[in-house]
Amino acid sequence: MNQTFARVRSLCPTVSVGTLTADLMDLGSELALLERAGIGLVHVDVMDGCFCPQMTVGPAYVKGLRTPLLKDVHLMVREPLDKLEGYAKAGADILTVHLESAVHIHRVLQRMGTLENAGRPGEGIARGLALNPGTPLEWLEPLLEEVDIVTLLAIDPGWGGQKFAPQTFDRVKRTQEMIASSGRQILVCVDGGVTKDNIVQIAASGADLAVTGSAVFDGKDAEGNARFMHAAMRDV
Ligand code: DX5
Ligand code: ZN
Repeated sequence: MNQTFARVRSLCPTVSVGTLTADLMDLGSELALLERAGIGLVHVDVMDGCFCPQMTVGPAYVKGLRTPLLKDVHLMVREPLDKLEGYAKAGADILTVHLESAVHIHRVLQRMGTLENAGRPGEGIARGLALNPGTPLEWLEPLLEEVDIVTLLAIDPGWGGQKFAPQTFDRVKRTQEMIASSGRQILVCVDGGVTKDNIVQIAASGADLAVTGSAVFDGKDAEGNARFMHAAMRDV
């Protein structure tokens, strides 16, 4: 197990907080409130407008996030192989690619395994593999030896205002069973549509990590929201 992945594991169960809905004009304060709330991971959604319809940020944004929080970078990017190093150099601690995004996804995961963690010299990058709601879990099986975190999307990435896909709860359970029979230490993460109303059920289903954005940065009490979501994962 690489040291960065060991750091992530030591924080679980927990939440990784997305910054897309934070106040981008005051991101330093937004990150500081996450630290005060005891959050250990900041989630950066990278969308290329090809794998999914939106375009968001790139390596410069990741590099510009000056924070002790672990940088959890979610690449919703078509054919990410030649883009991985840029995010590793920008300081990503977790890099998650989509199973659906590459013809040679096994090769992409192997390449991720060779990357140096620029923010933590001598450590590696934790390797994440994400599946959209319509992707069969069976496709995971031949890739498990190259993966540290399996992320189950509960929405189709790139469209706003979607409802949490209810089959995600069962997918978490089935993924944990698949991991148990593989004998590997792999975390399960749920991403998309996580709210105060469903996070307890998500934690109870066996998720180690949940990504949450708008449930924290709702314009009202972000620090209180972050504390609530973090506690909901830990108190199961
Ligand atoms: C899906 C992204 C998610 C999303 C989470 O497009 O991968 O990380 O931004 O945001 P909320 O929690 O607001 O659904
Ligand atoms: Zn995400």
